[in-house]
Formats: sequence, C-alpha cells, structure tokens
Amino acid sequence: MQTQEEIINLLEKEDQTQVLRFADQLSDQQKQTLFDQISAVDFSMIREARKPQEEEKEAVIETLSTMTIDQIKASREAYETIGKKVLSEGKVAAVLLAGGQGTRLGYDGPKGTLNIGLTRPLYLFQILLGNMEKNLEGTGRYMHLYIMTSALNDQATRDFFREHDYFGYPKEYIHFFQQEMAPALDRDGHMLLADKDKLCLAPNGNGGWFRSLEHNGMIEDMKKSGVEWLNVFSVDNVLQNIADPVFIGATIACRQYAAAKVIAKATPEEKVGAVCLRNGRPSVVEYSELSDQMRYAKDEKGQYLYNYGVTLNYLFHLQKTQKMAQKHLPIHKALKKINCLDEQGHLIIPDAPNAYKLEYFIFDILQFFDSILSYEVVRQDEFAPIKNKSGVDSLDTARALLVNKTGITL
Ligand code: UTP
Repeated sequence: MQTQEEIINLLEKEDQTQVLRFADQLSDQQKQTLFDQISAVDFSMIREARKPQEEEKEAVIETLSTMTIDQIKASREAYETIGKKVLSEGKVAAVLLAGGQGTRLGYDGPKGTLNIGLTRPLYLFQILLGNMEKNLEGTGRYMHLYIMTSALNDQATRDFFREHDYFGYPKEYIHFFQQEMAPALDRDGHMLLADKDKLCLAPNGNGGWFRSLEHNGMIEDMKKSGVEWLNVFSVDNVLQNIADPVFIGATIACRQYAAAKVIAKATPEEKVGAVCLRNGRPSVVEYSELSDQMRYAKDEKGQYLYNYGVTLNYLFHLQKTQKMAQKHLPIHKALKKINCLDEQGHLIIPDAPNAYKLEYFIFDILQFFDSILSYEVVRQDEFAPIKNKSGVDSLDTARALLVNKTGITL
C-alpha cells in the first residue's frame, strides 16, 4: 500500500498532479478514497497512451484460412467425441465477459440482467447458462463459470445471481472477478476527475480478462482443479454456443492452442471485425480498418477475402495463454463524450467527444499464437447479438433469431 506522500511523488513524476486540484476541499475520508483510486491506476497504460503517435508502418493484412461448415461436417463426430471427453474430464472452464458498459444499448444495469422475455422473465444471463448446460448434458459434470465484472456492475451482477438462485446452477461453480479500471484522459493525456474525490474511470476493455483472472488468483485455482482450456465469450449474444464439444474437439484435433468462432458476414459492409493475418500473425481486422478495395476483394473462387466475422467466442489453452498474456498488448484509444469536472470544479456534460477512453481488446492476444483455428459456425444458429437500442443487432432482432432457432415462447 502506497502512502499519500508516495502517491503525490508519483503524480509529480507522471505529470498528473491536476487530480489533486480539489484535495484541500476534501474530508480525510474523501481524500483517502481519491488516493486509493490513484494507487490502483496502471500508469504504464497512461504513459503508453501519451506517447506521440509514431508513424505506424502500414500493416500487411492478408486472409486467414477458415475451417468451413462443410469441412466441419465431414469430421463432426470425431471432433465431438474428443470435445465430450475433455468436457467430461472437467478440463474446460468458461469465462463470461460481462464487464462492459453497454453504452450503445443504454440499458440501466449490467447487460446480462436484461429481460428479453415478453410474457415471462427470461434474462440474458439465464439464457447463457441454459445454452452452456445444454452442451454439458451427458458429460456427467458441471463446468466452472468465471464471470468478469467491473467496479461499475460487480455488486449488481452478484446480487442478481443471488436473487435468482443462480438459475439453478450450483453456485460453487460460479465465480465472479473484477476487471481493472482505466482512467479517462483529456486531449493532453491528463487524467480527468468525475468528482472532486473521484477519478473518471471506465472498464479497461475486454482484453484485460486473463490478467484480471490472474490478479484474482483464479488461474491458479483453475490449474489446481485440472482446467486446461478456457472458452471465453461475450454476454450479449443470445445464441452463444458455450462449451461446444465439436468446436473444442476440432481445436484439439487441429493441434491449435487458440480458436475463434466466426460467421460468414451477411454482407461485406457488415460492421463486424474479420479474422485475418496481420504482418503474418493471426489477428482481427476491424470494419473501420478495411479500405473499400479490401472490403470487396475476392479470391480466385469468388469468395470475399475478409468474409469471416468474429462472434466473440474463443477457446484458449490455459498454459499457453498464460505465457502470451505476459506480453505487451496494444492500447486502443477512443475519443468519447465523457462527463468530467472542469478546472473550476463544475461538471461538464459534453455534447461532443472530449476525452479518451483506454481499452485492451481481446483479439489482440491472437497475434502471439503462431496460428489459430478460425472455425465457421452457422450464423442463424449461433449469432444473435444485442448491441443497439433498435435496428441491427438489437433486442428485437435477437428475439426473432432466438425464436426462429429454438421455437420457444418469449
Ligand atoms: P462491446 O465491445 O460490445 O462493449 O463488448 P460493451 O461495453 O458491451 O458495449 P458498448 O460498446 O459500450 O455499447 C463485447 C463484450 O466484451 C465485454 C462486454 O461485456 C461484452 O460481453 N466487455 C467489454 C468487458 O467485459 N469489459 C470491457 O471493458 C468491455
């Protein structure tokens, strides 16, 4: 634990003393709150974000080959047998990424607590657990589920599970852990205040999952309980297929240590990141990175080169990933509208982007693997995300896709 004096010295060294601007107006308790927040800040992340943008050499983007639905069909049974075996041996754990703020959806509460039912309650978390349990049928065991939350939604998420009696899943198999928070920076790279005793903090992106598991001692727990594989997935896809034995079996059969479920994009314009090789390494090319020429480029068979979008459902080998997670992940800086205090201590509610949010992205870890399995799934079976209030990838589209696939009454 750092003393207040040490923290002041650190702020001076890092050129961040502005966060103490109102410190003499604070009670001892409030001051301590602020110092506690500062001592949890990862200053290396800020330093990196403040570095002048070097002229980045343009990356060479190429296609990454994908195991297609037809190819999977041909070996389905063999893959399934392998996958079921490791599931029944308890070698797979699930990691649910639920630390995001869901700003596009604008729902007040953790996204997983969203009720998508129409005539009865049916929550996102409940659906995901149900999807996972379906795949565990016949394996004779439960699977450990690690749920990543953030300081903003941790308590609400835990309370929700407790109030719903963990939807019948044994609670000793459900573990919550918090991801780290990252400070918002102004255009000069200075940390902002949300209040006189509070930094402007936001979850540090879904790429922090492995390190946060480690900081919480959970990787060691997993190893002790014999876990070798981690199925990592997002909270907002109601058709998320978790603990899929065929996917797990295919990854093992192909001797890969990382795998991504992908879907053929509905159109080349669909706003989803596509698997690719970046400077020869596995990666994801974001929609915004694709030039028109690349977006519409086709191979000799007439297939789009960047056709396979990620569904945010990955399989990682625990031991291998632990080594990769020590490596340096890039920081993504996004200019956003962030409420903060001005120099006089008045709250600013900006109507234009004013500050940078710093995030790590999950797909950046893929580059550390020599190769990965890109594994195609049937879109209508496995992809129904809820991102927006209305229109594409909204609650309405997800409901329709869920009913279409399962025939359930909502
Ligand atoms: P998104 O990139 O869709 O972000 O997250 P989001 O926060 O849910 O939504 P917007 O962009 O603010 O509208 C994809 C997955 O990664 C998780 C989300 O909870 C979701 O499952 N995530 C995202 C985290 O766990 N932590 C984060 O810091 C960010």
